[in-house]
Amino acid sequence: MFDFRPEPGTPKPEAYRQLLDAAEALTAGEPDGVANMANIAALLWDFLPELNWSGFYRVIEGELVLGPFVGRPACIRIPMGQGVCGVAAKEGTTQLVEDVHAFPGHIACDAVTNSELVVPILRDGKAIAVIDLDSPAKARFDREDADGIEALARMLSDRI
Ligand code: SME
Repeated sequence: MFDFRPEPGTPKPEAYRQLLDAAEALTAGEPDGVANMANIAALLWDFLPELNWSGFYRVIEGELVLGPFVGRPACIRIPMGQGVCGVAAKEGTTQLVEDVHAFPGHIACDAVTNSELVVPILRDGKAIAVIDLDSPAKARFDREDADGIEALARMLSDRI
């Protein structure tokens, strides 16, 4: 049995260190990228409060294609440069969106989403996938969340 949740009240940087350790342990030695993304999507869902979606989109032949996730069924294909995920993948930069309704071109897969954090997973400087976290809370994510998920994205670069 896996139970990786941090103690309530753990400061965010420490919680993200624990998340990274857990993700490292869950994916170590496993060559199947789908299995690894599935477990990380579930780990993020378990670990982070106030989410309504956690998961992956992969860059395949110039567009984003839905990968393993936890949450409600979602848009399957997203063109590069469109929506929060498409911008993160095209520019190779983290998108920290306090209010998705104010983000031009935001793609609403679930009407309850109010804030979003999307972090690209880079290989040789190019996005191969993104990690997408959605929350019904406004401004759910801050720079500490982005730092923690960016560290996770670096670790996953050769495991998906
Ligand atoms: N909101 C995202 C689309 C993916 S869903 O949130 C799961 C976007 O604007 O790219």
